[in-house]
Amino acid sequence: MLENLRMDLKRWVVPGQIADDSALTMGTVLRLFYQYMPVRAVALFRLASWFKQQKIPFFPGFLQRMNYFFFGLEIPSGADIGGGLYIAHPIGTVIMPRRIGKNCTIIAAITIGMRNEWAFPDIGDEVFIGAGARVLGGIRIGNQVNIGANSVVIQDVPDGATVVGAPGKVIKIYGKPMQQAGPVEAQPVVN
Ligand SMILES: CC(C)(COP(=O)(O)OP(=O)(O)OC[C@H]1O[C@@H](n2cnc3c(N)ncnc32)[C@H](O)[C@@H]1OP(=O)(O)O)[C@@H](O)C(=O)NCCC(=O)NCCS
Repeated sequence: MLENLRMDLKRWVVPGQIADDSALTMGTVLRLFYQYMPVRAVALFRLASWFKQQKIPFFPGFLQRMNYFFFGLEIPSGADIGGGLYIAHPIGTVIMPRRIGKNCTIIAAITIGMRNEWAFPDIGDEVFIGAGARVLGGIRIGNQVNIGANSVVIQDVPDGATVVGAPGKVIKIYGKPMQQAGPVEAQPVVN
């Protein structure tokens, strides 16, 4: 839990970026908790997940409801979400994934969840999900994918893709428009 939280906090020293370990002094951590409501929301989720992992009853559900009540964020305790989770604006955001990798960015009013059947998205590392986007169903979103604001993603997305629209269509691979992309090499993910 602490390792994931440490990675989460590193995303807030400069909002959205990934800071060095050395930047996380006690003073900075206190400032981040005081200054940023999303930091408190994500920390609450990590704490709820810790209680769940320890099989301590009551607290996982209680803290999950607190997150909903105080921050408008629906996120189940114990969800498989790697460190470095950056939720810019938790209010109205629903996060029900099968898995989310490390250092992912979730901007605002996003839904990650089931579509018609009881199956949930598997999301890679360093994925960016723009405001209002929906990622639905038992699909696989690769590493370093960018999902545009208000997109509705209902199909698998390869590594490095940029997806926009409803339904979501891939328009770029690693920043190159689809026509020019050609064969691409995967980029290393941070950490
Ligand atoms: C998807 C996104 C990451 C792409 O950024 P990019 O790689 O720089 O893409 P570009 O700006 O070069 O746009 C490429 C094409 O996609 C279109 N496009 C970009 N974002 C789009 C979106 N969200 N929905 C539909 N089309 C979009 C552009 O109009 C452009 O189309 P064109 O080639 O026909 O002119 C970005 O546009 C985005 O949606 N960011 C989300 C930001 C956000 O959530 N802000 C909220 C802050 S609170």
